[in-house]
Amino acid sequence: MASLTVRQLDEGLKKALRLRAARSGRSVEDEVRTILRAAVADGLGAASPTAAARVTVPVPTSRPDRVLLVIGGGIAAYKSLDLIRRLKERGLAVRCILTRAATHFVTPLSAGALVGERVFTDLFDPEHEFDVGHIRLARETDLVVVAPATADLLAKLAGGHADDLATAVLLATDAKILLAPAMNPRMWTHKATQRNLAQLLADGAALVGPNEGEMAETGERGVGRMAEPLEIADAVMRLLAERVAPVLANRRVLVTSGPTHEPIDPVRYIANRSSGKQGHAIAQAAARAGADVILVSGPVNLPDPPGVRTVHVETAQEMLRAVERALPVDVAIFAAAVADWRVENAGRQKMKKVPGLEAPTLALKENPDILATVARRTAQRPRLVIGFAAETENITANARAKLAQKGCDWIVANDVSPQTGVMGGDRNTISLVTADGVEAWPSQSKEEVAAKLIARIADSLATAA
Ligand SMILES: Cc1cc2nc3c(=O)[nH]c(=O)nc-3n(C[C@H](O)[C@H](O)[C@H](O)COP(=O)(O)O)c2cc1C
Repeated sequence: MASLTVRQLDEGLKKALRLRAARSGRSVEDEVRTILRAAVADGLGAASPTAAARVTVPVPTSRPDRVLLVIGGGIAAYKSLDLIRRLKERGLAVRCILTRAATHFVTPLSAGALVGERVFTDLFDPEHEFDVGHIRLARETDLVVVAPATADLLAKLAGGHADDLATAVLLATDAKILLAPAMNPRMWTHKATQRNLAQLLADGAALVGPNEGEMAETGERGVGRMAEPLEIADAVMRLLAERVAPVLANRRVLVTSGPTHEPIDPVRYIANRSSGKQGHAIAQAAARAGADVILVSGPVNLPDPPGVRTVHVETAQEMLRAVERALPVDVAIFAAAVADWRVENAGRQKMKKVPGLEAPTLALKENPDILATVARRTAQRPRLVIGFAAETENITANARAKLAQKGCDWIVANDVSPQTGVMGGDRNTISLVTADGVEAWPSQSKEEVAAKLIARIADSLATAA
């Protein structure tokens, strides 16, 4: 183990003393007196090896989950002191940053006493920054909670500012951020605040509250009260439980999703019933597992998944171009329902219904086969190429045939007969077809299918490595 500098030893001892004092409710000086009295009684003053051997050091079993609480400058900051207590009751290791404005509402001393160690307030703190402490604060946490998240903090965070300790840490962290906004109802409904919030949610932040009720200002009510500490603590526990191991860290994953639209003329098109829910869920699950994800999406009514680069396309030909631009990737998952044909004689102008004339005949031309094109590449072929087979009959037989015919590694076969409700629905029943055989999975939500598929992909990459 590296030896400690005098300064680090000094800091460590001070920290341990403050922790003991906070736990016992006595002053640091009283704690020092107690320790000295015990040492004299024990004979440790003579530094006897037998006495030293009697001092037992608890060995930590598993590391508690770590939460970094950022307290912003709002009236609700007083509730965050109770939140510290609630988080600690749940066995979490809590660290705390107070913004400069927050120190007008609660003191670093009271927050520090509850946390059990010093709280952090200053980006340019020479004692803490000698080893770039703000980056450590950002990294050494499993979740960041901003409570109260003031209108100002939301704006700074949405804009990527980093001009104080709280915002620098929020920008430098990879951990999930939970926002507990608190502000006057008019500040909350202001378009700027809602715009900032939408941006932060799209960037992957989670939200708890705000609730409706009385404001601190007399006679004001509305939406803007910070969620209660117990609600925030519940949201914290939920988010910590949802964390996924970064099994796809440093992997690039390409996912296609949704239908394609093949124009008949500028206003009409051929489409299919794919909603994109399964493909988007896979992209989201891959991003949660730490992958760098590119989603090539046909026209869908779904928001872009947070933390995923989404490229929007309309036709099969556009989808193929976007897929080829995304290469090289480690894994390519083709969940989009690409139209097999496009209209060769699509009108440049809207086709007119002319009385007495026959209805036009659409000439169909085969679209490029995106899955086979990528699976059969000799250069830049992804290590794992996975296709989807949407079938209405002979599901596994057709999927096996597709596996061989397209040259891909796995096929996810699903029964999309109308009675299954798979197309557009929230559940999916799939069979995973690989060179080793067919695995029938039970009916699950599309998110569960996505999570399970990502776990299988991670296993396969790890085994092949
Ligand atoms: C008495 C008082 C109460 C305030 N309460 C809030 C509040 O609840 N929410 C909010 O967004 N801003 C509130 N503000 C304004 C913020 O303190 C101000 O925008 C500050 O710059 C926010 O700093 P921060 O980014 O460190 O949170 C309040 C200001 C005062 C003087």
